[in-house]
Amino acid sequence: MFRIDINNINGKTESLYVYGEQSILTELEDHSILINHSCRQGHCGSCILQLLKGDVMHQDCLVPLSRGEILACQAKPITDIEIGSRN
Ligand code: FES
Repeated sequence: MFRIDINNINGKTESLYVYGEQSILTELEDHSILINHSCRQGHCGSCILQLLKGDVMHQDCLVPLSRGEILACQAKPITDIEIGSRN
């Protein structure tokens, strides 16, 4: 099980405990933390978050990402992580 520390995303700062089987976007939605998204397939880039600590595994990613950015719809935690909104 992994811990996701939410660092002020839409005003929420809390920790979630997840199995790492679902995308971060889905985990956030399951906990009523709503972020921008559209395609859910790694194409549009609207779900970009900042990875502040830890590591994720990305599935399809067709959007150029800057260092530290992840696509919430395509990323699953593989360690405890901390995430925040895009700067
Ligand atoms: S929702 Fe489109 S890239 Fe994540």
